[in-house]
Amino acid sequence: MPATAGEGRRPWWRTAVVYEVYLRSFADSDGNGLGDVNGLRGRLAHLVDLGVDAVWITPWYPSPMADGGYDVSDYRDIDPRVGTLADVDALLAEAHAAGLRVVIDLVANHTSAEHPWFAAAVAGGPGAPERARYFFRDGRAGGAEPPNDWISAFGGRAWTRVTEPDGRPGQWYLHLFAPEQPDLDWDDITVQEEFDDILRFWLDRGVDGIRVDAAPAMAKLPGLPDAGHRPGALFESSAWVDNPHWDVDEVHEIFRRWRRIGDTYDGDRLFVSEAVVNGPERLSRYVRPDELHTTFNFDYLKAPWDAGSIRAVIEGTLAALAPVGAPATWVLSSHDETRHVTRFGRVSSGAATMGFDASAPADLELGLRRARAAALLTLALPGGAYLYQGEELGLPEVEDLPEEVLQDPTWERSGRTARGRDGCRVPLPWSGDRPPFGFSADGVQPWLPQPESWRGLTVAAQREDPSSTLSLYRDALRLRRSLHGLADDAPLTWHEVGPDVVAFDRGPAFRCVVNMSARPLPLAGLGRPVLRSGDDGDALPPDTAAWLVTG
Ligand code: NOJ
Repeated sequence: MPATAGEGRRPWWRTAVVYEVYLRSFADSDGNGLGDVNGLRGRLAHLVDLGVDAVWITPWYPSPMADGGYDVSDYRDIDPRVGTLADVDALLAEAHAAGLRVVIDLVANHTSAEHPWFAAAVAGGPGAPERARYFFRDGRAGGAEPPNDWISAFGGRAWTRVTEPDGRPGQWYLHLFAPEQPDLDWDDITVQEEFDDILRFWLDRGVDGIRVDAAPAMAKLPGLPDAGHRPGALFESSAWVDNPHWDVDEVHEIFRRWRRIGDTYDGDRLFVSEAVVNGPERLSRYVRPDELHTTFNFDYLKAPWDAGSIRAVIEGTLAALAPVGAPATWVLSSHDETRHVTRFGRVSSGAATMGFDASAPADLELGLRRARAAALLTLALPGGAYLYQGEELGLPEVEDLPEEVLQDPTWERSGRTARGRDGCRVPLPWSGDRPPFGFSADGVQPWLPQPESWRGLTVAAQREDPSSTLSLYRDALRLRRSLHGLADDAPLTWHEVGPDVVAFDRGPAFRCVVNMSARPLPLAGLGRPVLRSGDDGDALPPDTAAWLVTG
């Protein structure tokens, strides 16, 4: 277990910077074009050099890969394409020795349709006890119509009809994601007990934390009433109120149960939820003292590049979390969202749902400038932060992947109108001047093609360049550990500089200033800059940020 020296008794996760490893796109050690556990082991030095505290690794379990591994067919093993349990044990030992904590991803709202439980449920026919672990229901209109109007996050309805063992069209089963991801019924005690055991399996192995996938989906309103979705509605869960399949109050019982298990372990194990819900107050319920420890903050991720919106999200987040005593987390990108270099380069710079926004043009120079400023803002805020692999390189979304390589279920389920999330999942460029850029051995074709234009963005190309985005992140993470106000996680107080400027102080001598206006902002009187995302000089150019020491 990494030491906690210097942190006092503050649990590590209250201020941790966690780096998201989208495993199949991080580093490929065995030449099959897919990133793997040993590829990650081989690149831990990059993460240590960068200065993050922990990694969150996306699902590595055996999976038919209908949704990039979020369709799990065995929760106690590793997909042979990405490694073995022995590789994982070695990774845990090496990461801990290097001072990095390891958070894994648990997908408990749904299994894969190839999970033995689901196969048994289908084979058992109507009324079989195995069906009670999922949501099997008779259809309406004599069976021909789905049981209710619920929709899938990937587009279309959330129900699929099975063919019964006698060959006739039969019951429908619920899947809030792809049809290959049937939802579990968490009222079933065998489901609850199975996941108790799965949690212990991984906590016993030594993982430091668990990311809870699709947390708000895990409870459904009894009776499964209609949600009242308009025809063609998108899965916009941040706008839903009293929805029967999302953020239902009973979901919190599950997390209390999990917390009781987590608390029996030493080492400040972490639960972090993925929860896109309606506003910070609903979000704060997931992190009450007897539930999960932290949660991703999608309001921040979805905020447009606009001082008023960003300040309002920060204020709202901190105000909602204070009463429950949980730290905030801040996140700009993930494997589910358009990379923020591209998003911030669009006229409408807030994030849209699941890649349903991919057509608007982006000014990537502007986007990168803002992304660099946003990194300084994010890493200066109280609490923890999540970085998505490649953002430290300033990678943009890949928007011109050929249609025939697209794999995200969103593509097909939207009737090929939304390209989905593959553009943020393109394998990382490590070195060299042509694909696969050190991701795989030369000559291997990665599972998604990398653009030739990434040659200037590789880790090797940026490592020694003090003006690179990689250097900016490294400098920021180093200063975050040493500057008073940041290192001691002091509270934030706003500093009024002017319209379209976000500025705040932490502790007696730290200040962060982000210029979101169209004019340069004179720095005179604001403090001594110690890190800047843009040009040097006496003024802060538009769309840049600075960390300053005052007094
Ligand atoms: C959230 C994950 O981040 C996403 O990639 C996945 O498609 C859904 N949950 C379903 O598991």
